Amino acid sequence: MEGSQRNGNLVFAVNGERFELACVDPSTTLLQFLRYHASFKSPKLGCGEGGCGACVVLVSKYDPKLNKVEDFSVSSCLTLLCSLNGCAITTSDGLGNTRDGYHPIHQRFAGFHASQCGFCTPGMCMSFFSALVNADKGNPQVSPPQGFSSLTSFEAEKSISGNLCRCTGYRPIADACRSFASDVDIEDLGLNIFWKNGDSTETKAGKLPPYDPSKDLVTYPEFLKSESITRLDSTRYSWFSPVSIEELQTLLNSSVAENVGSVKIVVGNTGTGYYKETQCYDQYIDLRRIPELSILNRDRKGIEIGATATISRVISFLNEGTDVNLGLYGKMVSQKLAQHMEKIANPFVRNTASVGGNLAMAQKFGFPSDMSTLFLGVDATVSILTVRGREKLKWEELLARPALDSRSVLLSVRIPFKKDGNVLQNFSKFLFETYRPAPRPLGSALAYVNAAFLADVSPRRNGVVIHSIRLAFGAFGTNHAIRAKTVEKHLTGKILNVKILYEAVKFVKLDIVPEPGTSYPEYRSSLAVSFLFKFLYPLTNVDSAVSSGLFDGVGETSVEDGDTSEGNTKTILSPAEQVVESSTEYYPVGEPMKKYGVSMQASGEAVYVDDIPSPPNCLHGAIIYSTKPLARVKSVHLQHQPNSIAEEIIGIITFKDIPRGGENVGALSQFGTEPLFAEDHCEYAGDRIVVVVAKSQRSADVAARTTVVEYDTENIDSPILTVEEAVDRSSFLQGPVFLDTEPVGDFSKGMAEADHKILSAELRLPSEYYFYMEPQTTLAVPDEDNTMVVYASTQFPEYTHSVIARCLGVPEHNIRVKTRRAGGGFGGKAIRNMPVSTACALAAYKLRHPVRVYVNRNTDMVITGGRHPLKVTYSVGFKSNGKVTALHADILINGGISDDITPVIASHVIAALKKYNWGAFSFDLKNCKTNLTSKSSMRALGDVQGSYIADVIIENVASVLEMEVDSVISQNVHTYESLKLFYEHSAGESGEYTLPSIMDQLATSSRFVDRRNMIDEFNEKNTWKKRGISRLPIVHEVMQHATPAKVSVLQDGSIVCEVGGVEIGQGLWTKVKQVIAYALSLIERSWSEELVEKVRIIQIDTLSLVQTGFTAESTKSESSCEAARRCCNILVERLTPLKEKLQEQNGSVDWTTLIREAEAQPIDLQAHAYFVPDSSSGQYLNYGAAVSEVEIDILTGQPRIMQSDIIYDCGQSLNPAVDLGQIEGAFVQGIGYFMLEEYLTNEDGLMVTNSTWTYHIPTIDTITKRLNVRVLNSGHHKKRILSSKASGEPPLLLAATVHSATRAAIREARKQLKHWGKLDKYDSEFYLDVPAIMPVVKTTCGLDYVEKYLETLISKPST
Ligand SMILES: Cc1cc2nc3c(=O)[nH]c(=O)nc-3n(C[C@H](O)[C@H](O)[C@H](O)COP(=O)(O)OP(=O)(O)OC[C@H]3O[C@@H](n4cnc5c(N)ncnc54)[C@H](O)[C@@H]3O)c2cc1C
Ligand code: FES
Ligand code: FES
Repeated sequence: MEGSQRNGNLVFAVNGERFELACVDPSTTLLQFLRYHASFKSPKLGCGEGGCGACVVLVSKYDPKLNKVEDFSVSSCLTLLCSLNGCAITTSDGLGNTRDGYHPIHQRFAGFHASQCGFCTPGMCMSFFSALVNADKGNPQVSPPQGFSSLTSFEAEKSISGNLCRCTGYRPIADACRSFASDVDIEDLGLNIFWKNGDSTETKAGKLPPYDPSKDLVTYPEFLKSESITRLDSTRYSWFSPVSIEELQTLLNSSVAENVGSVKIVVGNTGTGYYKETQCYDQYIDLRRIPELSILNRDRKGIEIGATATISRVISFLNEGTDVNLGLYGKMVSQKLAQHMEKIANPFVRNTASVGGNLAMAQKFGFPSDMSTLFLGVDATVSILTVRGREKLKWEELLARPALDSRSVLLSVRIPFKKDGNVLQNFSKFLFETYRPAPRPLGSALAYVNAAFLADVSPRRNGVVIHSIRLAFGAFGTNHAIRAKTVEKHLTGKILNVKILYEAVKFVKLDIVPEPGTSYPEYRSSLAVSFLFKFLYPLTNVDSAVSSGLFDGVGETSVEDGDTSEGNTKTILSPAEQVVESSTEYYPVGEPMKKYGVSMQASGEAVYVDDIPSPPNCLHGAIIYSTKPLARVKSVHLQHQPNSIAEEIIGIITFKDIPRGGENVGALSQFGTEPLFAEDHCEYAGDRIVVVVAKSQRSADVAARTTVVEYDTENIDSPILTVEEAVDRSSFLQGPVFLDTEPVGDFSKGMAEADHKILSAELRLPSEYYFYMEPQTTLAVPDEDNTMVVYASTQFPEYTHSVIARCLGVPEHNIRVKTRRAGGGFGGKAIRNMPVSTACALAAYKLRHPVRVYVNRNTDMVITGGRHPLKVTYSVGFKSNGKVTALHADILINGGISDDITPVIASHVIAALKKYNWGAFSFDLKNCKTNLTSKSSMRALGDVQGSYIADVIIENVASVLEMEVDSVISQNVHTYESLKLFYEHSAGESGEYTLPSIMDQLATSSRFVDRRNMIDEFNEKNTWKKRGISRLPIVHEVMQHATPAKVSVLQDGSIVCEVGGVEIGQGLWTKVKQVIAYALSLIERSWSEELVEKVRIIQIDTLSLVQTGFTAESTKSESSCEAARRCCNILVERLTPLKEKLQEQNGSVDWTTLIREAEAQPIDLQAHAYFVPDSSSGQYLNYGAAVSEVEIDILTGQPRIMQSDIIYDCGQSLNPAVDLGQIEGAFVQGIGYFMLEEYLTNEDGLMVTNSTWTYHIPTIDTITKRLNVRVLNSGHHKKRILSSKASGEPPLLLAATVHSATRAAIREARKQLKHWGKLDKYDSEFYLDVPAIMPVVKTTCGLDYVEKYLETLISKPST
């Protein structure tokens, strides 16, 4: 073993197990090895681009010289295996697992309800574990209280800032992590299973699963230390690790001379997250073993950074720096650079991403780099190695040169220090600032513009003089960072005043001009103005600049005014309240139990489709889609691939491969079908053309990415992409507009009664992508006699089954679809999984091999579709007091290419729109057919749009009347009488109508009126920050659907249950378990707790349980519970006489004895039930309300959600912890829709925001800072299933409060402009687009706000 290592074998350890690989393809990533070569399934593949954190593992590296182990998190999807020679890797199941016991991190994640679908959870745990290790391992100086870490709460939160979770809304995850922090106040932690209300703080701390750093942090196995770590044998691995520059040079020269083919210089390999690799390299040259390239030095003259130094190392180095006297300049620059770099990428990328790699990407490919701008700002020099030898030059000069060739190497960067105050420029002082406004404030998103400014200034009696200034800007849609030289020239030598600043901001707009095709060009230019203003405005008044300490190195150049803080808590989230009221009527139903299987989700052992081991000879498929709408497909060319990939490609599957008797069908709903593949024509961008099959997923994906499809559009109609075009060309979906609701009253009469009218106002809503963390995936395994088992991540196994059978032309009993769990669905795995599963099954059928399809994130985003965009034109009449008398809405729904589920959306839009009493209400809806991907069910389908439209109409009324929006809402919230009129079939009893009381309770609990007054004061005092607050109600109608269940009791008394619902993270299994325990304990109440432990819910198998239906629309948990309860009732009926007999005989009986006797009798211990909801109670209304407060930054357009308060009526919750999780998760997903997620398409309708780089779902730093939730227990509801109500979708609608509060804040910003007399071209009414991303907010405030402000100052006589 040791001998082979001396020969240069790749040796490493995973979870303490030693691996030695004699050869490996050098392009193999750590994730590929862990998941597909070995069988470590806990790191998941969520994006493959470093942007989601699902794949995070810990890497530990031993330094024999220092006898020290360095531990850091990495994204295993980007890290190359060959770069880990001698390293130890720890995955989440290595920390703890089902057999060896869970790690306290797993236990706390489970106990704080911090995992729903669980797909993100192992990655979260590892990101946090990395922070814990680094805080506590071998750190005897700090001694936190026993059981806690020396980590702070802020560090705990920051550690997961780069990890995405689509389910939980992050608050419980943050609580689980913070529970380890030394500075945590236990009382601030949220709902958990560990303690009860009333426990003392000490008791609570004592009940947390114990954490012992000396035991819980073992990362590097001793045996690996003794292995002699040598270089890999380059002849076998094509992996070179030179140890000196000379060797590197020789290697590069020989590579050139010998013409070895393609060579890749590599360090962290994170660049492939952005520039997807579609080629294989013949040689890799790893720079990390060259000591000179990893140096970090500093002295009074400057800082030297080696090219392979990782961004994380550089940050730590810049933050240390106290031992060396760097002078004021050195300190200031170090601190600011470190602060900026902490926002680059995310922690697990920064840990391997090198400075040189970043700069090389910027110089060679025009990457929108932060580093490049920072180094341009500080006038850095770089040292490079080219074929001509070594060279030193300014970074600015290198940027201006042609792109470095692939054999040129960046060696190091030097930041020169400057000296304050020379003799000539007495008291001169350097000021340095950097900026990077981005969709996510803590990083994990590229900046819209970044900037670094350096100025040498002195105070004079008549003002501040600028001796010199460097203004570097980057990432704004420019090939590389540039200096705003016109502005620099304009300012140099001048004494700054408002007029000069005003001229400078005009000039900066001439210098900072994004290239054509860049999104939001004017916004980006206006940001440049904002930065310059922020930097220089404080210097326009010399007295205040001096008194604020700017020249003493104490103050910062900032225009913050008034109080923008909220107390002194420096944490990302603030402590929030969760109020849940459990009930005991149906115990253990109603208990806030932890989710079933949650610890196993945290350790990563929970099995998703891609975790099922591949059968031998399994092949892999990748979908090739059309990039054109409406075109003839002339040809599909697989490009020439390098040998290693070409050898793996098996071929392509097209519609021609559909067997005789089968149909070209890929999706099925009750309204129709959708073809699996385009035949001669593709009909929309994203249409499936073929599936390419290869021996590995990677080869299939590379082949799909590089395939060239030729199109022909001659004599083909132009595509229909908008609803307007669809109406013009009468293009409507075939399915009926399915409406179970009628207009109310007489619209004309209502309009006649109105004092005011708004006629034909318009608004639009965009689409939204699901972003389930587990992409679409299926494994199809052919079996005997033409049968097939299909493992699919689907919410609709029943129809997936049918569509596969139809496509293959086989009877349905030949197909068996199995679904254990899905890593999130949100509606996107109902109809939209079917084409993936069908294509996979077809490939398996044709090739007679098992086939797997794991759709990569980019393709998934393009082909899957999403929420329905729509356009509304409305006319509304209202009284002067705000009471609406009539509303008519014409709604055009963009359904995309196929019927899918679109016919039902109308009912949802209208039901949600009816949440206010409009007096008279009429409507018209059209389902437009367009050449876009099919739009499908997505969490709160149609309801979120309808509810939002209603609120915007009310706000429009308020703005015409110049009334408070909240009082117009109060005028129009339903009375029970009007509710019955508007919701004839679902209004229920008057006692069930809890909305008015919810609104009142919320006003009190959120201190709505007080806070509104405080906000008024805040807005009065602050020029650049404005706040708004909003309170909105929701009424959400749901309908139950028929569903089956089967409950079986085994010989030992354990119980298995199959239900129609799929576990997609919503806690369905947990609720069913509780209900079974309750229902079976009707035999004997004291058995209930024991029974919960005996129940296991198992996967859906479509041949075992039929008519399972789909898991969507919030009610599947309830109906599955009811079906299971009915099974239990049957069993109870069968078992009760026997129990009574045994009790009579023996005095007492337990469950196990009862079952043993029942077996012997024999009694049938399996029961099946099919729950069909009663027509009078299957449809009902859910109520809730929320208050949100938002602060906007006028200079950048950044909104911050300060606080949200929710009250949501769950009836008598089946499990308040699960329902709380649903409420928080749905609310945060709604924040994504309203505030962050841009679903953009190009002129062909092709989705272009198709990556984690461009599509931003909420992260811990973009959600509500403080989210208070009360799960209202409105008591017994006799017609509801065990008195419960839905929680999965309705709370998503409440996120509209965030958008509405943003509008309120913008209104204040516009009011201020009006006050300055500068609102000339703005109306007092305005419309804020969804999502209200930063460019949208700033544009609505006014892109030239700074200019207007300066003009106002200039026009004042005193200036
Ligand atoms: C999710 C994510 C988010 C990110 N966000 C940001 C961000 O907000 N701001 C930002 O600035 N950057 C961001 N980055 C970019 C990141 O900083 C770079 O990917 C990283 O620094 C590259 O370093 P590396 O060692 O991984 O380079 P590699 O991936 O190993 O190499 C990148 C390229 O540079 C070449 N190369 C590497 N080192 C050298 C060298 N010394 N000389 C010559 N060529 C070399 C390689 O051949 C390759 O072409 C992000 C990256 C990811 C994955
Ligand atoms: S899968 Fe690696 S970061 Fe997303
Ligand atoms: S639990 Fe986090 S993505 Fe589902």
